[in-house]
Formats: sequence, structure tokens, C-alpha cells
Amino acid sequence: MKELNSASDPIGQNLIKLISNVCFSVFVFTVLIFTVIAITYQPPDPWESSRALTRVFTEFENATFQNDNSVLKTGEDVAFSPAVSPSAMSIAITDAVIEKSAENYTNLTLSSGCEDVSTVNCSGHMVLIAIEKFNMKAFKSILFLEYQTPVNGSKPDECDVAWRFRNKKEKSWRKYRDFRRFRIGFGENCTYKVLSAKGWHSGINARRPRSRVSPSRNDENATLTLGSEINDTIPVLGSDAAFRRRKYLYYSRGGDYCKGMNQYIWSFLCSLGEAQYLNRTLVMDLSLCLPATYTSSKKDEEGKDFRFYFDLEHLKEVASFAEEGEFLADWKRWDKTHKKKIPVRKVASYKVTPMQLKKDKSTIIWRQFDAPEPENYWYRVCEGQAAKYVQRPWHALWKSKRIMNIVSEISGKLDWDFDAVHVVRGEKAQNKEMWPHLDADTSPDALVAKLQGIVQPWRNLYIATNEPFYSYFDKLRSHYKVHLLDDYQELWANTSEWYNETRLLNGGRPVDFDGYMRVEVDTEVLYRAKTRVETFYNLTTDCKDGVNTC
Ligand SMILES: *[C@@H]1O[C@H](CO)[C@@H](O)[C@H](O)[C@H]1NC(C)=O
Ligand SMILES: *[C@@H]1O[C@H](CO)[C@@H](O)[C@H](O)[C@H]1NC(C)=O
Ligand SMILES: *[C@@H]1O[C@H](CO)[C@@H](O)[C@H](O)[C@H]1NC(C)=O
Ligand SMILES: *[C@@H]1O[C@H](CO)[C@@H](O)[C@H](O)[C@H]1NC(C)=O
Ligand SMILES: *[C@@H]1O[C@H](CO)[C@@H](O)[C@H](O)[C@H]1NC(C)=O
Ligand SMILES: *[C@@H]1O[C@H](CO)[C@@H](O)[C@H](O)[C@H]1NC(C)=O
Ligand SMILES: *[C@@H]1O[C@H](CO)[C@@H](O)[C@H](O)[C@H]1NC(C)=O
Ligand SMILES: *[C@@H]1O[C@H](CO)[C@@H](O)[C@H](O)[C@H]1NC(C)=O
Ligand SMILES: *[C@@H]1O[C@H](CO)[C@@H](O)[C@H](O)[C@H]1NC(C)=O
Ligand SMILES: *[C@@H]1O[C@H](CO)[C@@H](O)[C@H](O)[C@H]1NC(C)=O
Ligand SMILES: *[C@@H]1O[C@H](CO)[C@@H](O)[C@H](O)[C@H]1NC(C)=O
Ligand SMILES: *[C@@H]1O[C@H](CO)[C@@H](O)[C@H](O)[C@H]1NC(C)=O
Repeated sequence: MKELNSASDPIGQNLIKLISNVCFSVFVFTVLIFTVIAITYQPPDPWESSRALTRVFTEFENATFQNDNSVLKTGEDVAFSPAVSPSAMSIAITDAVIEKSAENYTNLTLSSGCEDVSTVNCSGHMVLIAIEKFNMKAFKSILFLEYQTPVNGSKPDECDVAWRFRNKKEKSWRKYRDFRRFRIGFGENCTYKVLSAKGWHSGINARRPRSRVSPSRNDENATLTLGSEINDTIPVLGSDAAFRRRKYLYYSRGGDYCKGMNQYIWSFLCSLGEAQYLNRTLVMDLSLCLPATYTSSKKDEEGKDFRFYFDLEHLKEVASFAEEGEFLADWKRWDKTHKKKIPVRKVASYKVTPMQLKKDKSTIIWRQFDAPEPENYWYRVCEGQAAKYVQRPWHALWKSKRIMNIVSEISGKLDWDFDAVHVVRGEKAQNKEMWPHLDADTSPDALVAKLQGIVQPWRNLYIATNEPFYSYFDKLRSHYKVHLLDDYQELWANTSEWYNETRLLNGGRPVDFDGYMRVEVDTEVLYRAKTRVETFYNLTTDCKDGVNTC
């Protein structure tokens, strides 16, 4: 029957074949389309011109395409979802929350009448509620997270209060602390009212007593107890068994070492991206080389701790890494004490792609980068096809909390109410070929003329700049309250918290507040301004990357 059927109806058979072929083709095509869409999707990247960066780094000697090194955007400056760490989540104190907690106490205050209005009871709840309401009105850019019970100030009508906050402009979930002194009076119906408030960190009685360790020289364990708010101790791998359980991706030092810091970030994030793609622990060298452009000695300086610049505590939370020295020691110890050596896959060239390594079961994948420049740059691993699979985890890289504390201090001292101008000068201003008008457009007179149309007279004006000459902006001082980073030197001077804390990280040796830290602070203060004036687009018509690039 079957044979007869097929023989007598070849047309029907072919038709079915044809239809199924067409269907299959459509299916394959659809899958292909979806795959292409899926692998070409890229998450946001904080560096606007990052696509041109690969070219930038390989032709680094040309000042031409150099990307802007007077600002540094990192993960906390860009919105990533989810922007809130579940473990660190706190509820912001809103007007509704204050009303709710006020309700519980209004009955008490009202019933007490106006007999004892002469004394202010700082620990009474209504004082805190009055202060919360005041802060909410005064600092619109701040999210208040938690308050401590107010304590007595220096006079009977003063109260000191400490709280934690977050700036709405920062996309991270980091919290900062402030404590201020308030003068309390009585309003209508004998309720408390804030008459006046002092500045940033003025409420010294509310400052939490610090249990500090005296930093003795080369005290390795000092870092363990360092500033209770920042826990950026280097994670330990632990026992042999724990060491063996994990799989590692190890990048030897490559040609990026001592190149620009932008290149460092671009390369480091490539290695971290590959480690995440391969589901491996990245072995990290926490010792950086700071290039000469940022050092006071004008020479490359080695041995800079990653933690001077970046937030290791955050990195620990979101990525898996091991410190190189510790890793090598554990590896050596294992190979000494065990007959069976640890399986290692050595990879000589970046041309071996992450996709080819995905199936590799070796405990350690060791990328060696021995080739001559520019074949030995880490970021080359992420070029070409690999770029579709490996994504740079920008959200993992935040600026150091110690740097951000300085940013908060400066913004707090300005009561979060300031405007800022970013003035790019330096090499670009001298290169008339690429930026013909920049020098003139950022001259003191041009700045005065231009800013007057944008920033109200006598506002606080913060100037983020790579112009080294402090008095360069003096002409603006007859129009604005000018603030420059150097006005805040006490924040990193040898009497500062920053100085103490970075010294602990540095084995007891003082740390230089270098050019790269300055760029980090300038960037973040700039982003907290109410009105922000940029050099390119706002002050000059020259293009950011040189003539004919915009
Ligand atoms: C780099 O500079 C050289 C000469 O100094 C020039 O020929 C070359 O075009 C420049 N490269 C770029 C990308 O501008
Ligand atoms: C108000 O008081 C009630 C009971 O005394 C308590 O459960 C509630 O948490 C309080 N609300 C606030 C906002 O303090
Ligand atoms: C406050 O007083 C009102 C009326 O006297 C009463 O209804 C309310 O329950 C009281 N609130 C509290 C939290 O005691
Ligand atoms: C101040 O307020 C707190 C909390 O309401 C109360 O425990 C304390 O007795 C008050 N002190 C004075 C001197 O009234
Ligand atoms: C705070 O001041 C009030 C009155 O001014 C006083 O009664 C109280 O004892 C003081 N509290 C502390 C903790 O010193
Ligand atoms: C004072 O109390 C009166 C009546 O109880 C009320 O109408 C008024 O709104 C209150 N004023 C304030 C500022 O709370
Ligand atoms: C500090 O480190 C030394 C070795 O570096 C160790 O012997 C000592 O027990 C450590 N002290 C503490 C308190 O951890
Ligand atoms: C710091 O974090 C590590 C984990 O990375 C943890 O083991 C350690 O207990 C923490 N130290 C403090 C003082 O919180
Ligand atoms: C990643 O590795 C860990 C252990 O190293 C394993 O538990 C986990 O299942 C792996 N995840 C994927 C997606 O392979
Ligand atoms: C801090 O530096 C000043 C000069 O810059 C010096 O006189 C002073 O002794 C230093 N203090 C400490 C504690 O190192
Ligand atoms: C820094 O450390 C010194 C010496 O240990 C100490 O006297 C000083 O109070 C500390 N400064 C700050 C701001 O913590
Ligand atoms: C700066 O220029 C940009 C782009 O032209 C514009 O959107 C922005 O409003 C300008 N800023 C100021 C403060 O004028």
C-alpha cells in the first residue's frame, strides 16, 4: 500500500518535502536573527567614545585621538539595573515617613503645653522630627537614610545630630555620614523648630567615637581593623581544599603596564569580563603602575595599591577574584605537597579566544602576554568576535570610598548648592592644530564673559580643571565664590583621615595625593553641581577629539 501510494503520488510527496524545507529555512533564519540581536546587544558604557578607544590606545603617542583624561567616569556614574544592592538596601526618609513618626508624638507635645518651652530636650523625638523636616527642605539632592538620636550641642538650645545619606546623583548604593549642629527654637503651638544649622561635620558631639588602631609600621593586620566603614581587606583563598575547588583565570602582566590609566581600566575590565564569561576567579595584581602624567615626580611610579583609586569592597561583592601573590603562594604550596600537580592551560596569544577556552576544564587558565607590543595588551582578548560574548562589567568598578568621602566633604562644605565648570586645558590647549580655539576660549576673560550668561553672580562655583596654575582663575573671583580642588588640601593633608587610612594600606608609608586621585575627585564634584558647564559644547566650538571629529 505504502509503495503504491508513494509511487502514485510523487507530487504530493515533493510538495510536503518542499514545505518542510521552507519551514526549516524560516526556522533557521529566525533563530539566526535572534542570535544576532542577542549577541550584538551591549549594555551601557560610561565612556562615550569607547568604540574609538582601541584605536586610541594603539596610537597612544599621538596626542590627537587621546580621550579626555581630565575626567574619569566609572560604574557609579552610570545607571545600571539593578542599582540597589539587596543587602545594603535602606529606606529613604521621606516626608511621609516623617509625618508618620510625628503622629505618634504630637499628642504628647501638645498635652505638655507651653510651660516648659525654655528647655530643649535634644533626645526628645520632636526635636529629631523638626530636624528631619528642615534637612528635607534644605538638601533637595540628598536622600536621607537613617538618623541617630540627637545629643546636646555646646549650648542649651543646640542639638547635634548624625545621619547617613546618599546623593541622588550617585548611582551606587554607598552611604556617607554627616553630623551637624542645629539651633532649636519654638514655633507655633509650642512645637520645635530649627532656627539655624551649622555646616558640614559641625555636630561634633554626635560624631561616633572612633576606635582607631595606631598604625604601626608595616603592620599587616592593621588593614584588617581599618576604618570600620570600609572593609577592603584582600580576600583569602583559605585552605588547600578551598583553593583547589575553584577555577582560575590568570593574566600575566602585559604591555599595558605603566601605560595610561584609561588603558588600564579598559584592559582590566576585559580580563574581568573574560573571567565572568568563563565562570572563573580572576587572579588580580593589586599593585598598579601610575603613569608619569599623574605623578608629582613626572616618572612612572610602580607599587600603587588598587585600593587607592578603586573600591575593592564593592568589587568583592560583585565579582570573584584572588590576589596574585596569595594565589601564587597557594599554587606553589599545593604543587609541593601533592603528587598530582594542578592542571594548567597556558595560553600564549590573545588570538586564542574566550570562546575557545569555554570548554577547557583546567583549574588554571594562564594567559601569558609575552608577544611584543601591541600584541601583548590585555584588552586585545576582547577584540573582534570576542566582543560579542565578553562584556566589560562596568558596574563592578567604582571609585574608592576614601576618594568619595573627600568628594562628599567638598560638596557638603558647599551645602550641595553649587555650580561647576569643567575647564580642559593642559596639552589640548597647547595643541593649536587640533584645538585651534580652545586656549582662547578657556582664557580667564573668555571664561568670565561666557559664564556670566550661565551661572548667577556670587554663586559657589567649583572649577574642575587640569590647569595647574592656581591663580589662573582669579578673574572669576570678582563674580563668583570660586572653589578649586587645592582649596581643600586639608582633606588629604597629614592631619586627615584620608592620610591615616591610605597610609595603613601602604604599610605605614604616607601616600601622595596624586594627579589621578585629583581627576577622580574633580569628576565626582563636577557631577554633583546644580548647573554644569562643560568645556566642549558649552565654552568652545572646538571638538572634543580634535578638528573634524564632531
Ligand atoms: C599620528 O601622527 C602622525 C604624524 O605625527 C600622523 O601622520 C598620523 O596620521 C597621526 N595619526 C592619527 C590617527 O592622527
Ligand atoms: C508608632 O507607634 C506604634 C505603636 O506605638 C509603632 O508600632 C509604630 O512603629 C510607630 N510608628 C512610627 C513611624 O514610629
Ligand atoms: C492622638 O490623640 C488622638 C485624639 O486625642 C487619638 O485619636 C490618637 O489615637 C492619638 N494618637 C496616638 C498615637 O496616641
Ligand atoms: C527627653 O526626652 C526623652 C525621650 O522622650 C525622655 O526619655 C527624657 O526623659 C527627656 N528628658 C527631659 C529632661 O525631659
Ligand atoms: C543635655 O542638656 C539638658 C539641659 O540643657 C540636661 O538636662 C541634660 O542632662 C543634658 N544631657 C546630657 C547627656 O548631657
Ligand atoms: C496650631 O494649632 C492650631 C489649632 O490646634 C492649628 O489650627 C494650627 O494649624 C497649628 N499650627 C501649626 C503650625 O501646627
Ligand atoms: C598580626 O600579624 C602577625 C603576623 O604578621 C601575627 O603573628 C599576629 O597574630 C597578628 N595579630 C593579630 C591581632 O591578628
Ligand atoms: C571584611 O570582609 C571579609 C570578606 O571579604 C570578611 O571575611 C571580614 O570578616 C570582614 N571584616 C570586617 C571587619 O567586617
Ligand atoms: C560557575 O562555577 C561554580 C563553581 O565554580 C558553579 O557552582 C556554577 O554552577 C558555575 N556556573 C555556571 C553558569 O557554569
Ligand atoms: C605634617 O606636615 C607638616 C608640614 O607639611 C609638618 O610640619 C608636620 O610635622 C607633619 N605632621 C605629621 C604628623 O607628620
Ligand atoms: C591620624 O592618626 C594620628 C596618629 O595615629 C592621630 O593622632 C590622628 O588623630 C588621626 N587623624 C584622624 C583625622 O583620624
Ligand atoms: C551645554 O551644552 C549642552 C549641549 O549643547 C546643553 O545641552 C547644555 O544645556 C549646556 N549647558 C549649559 C549650562 O548651558
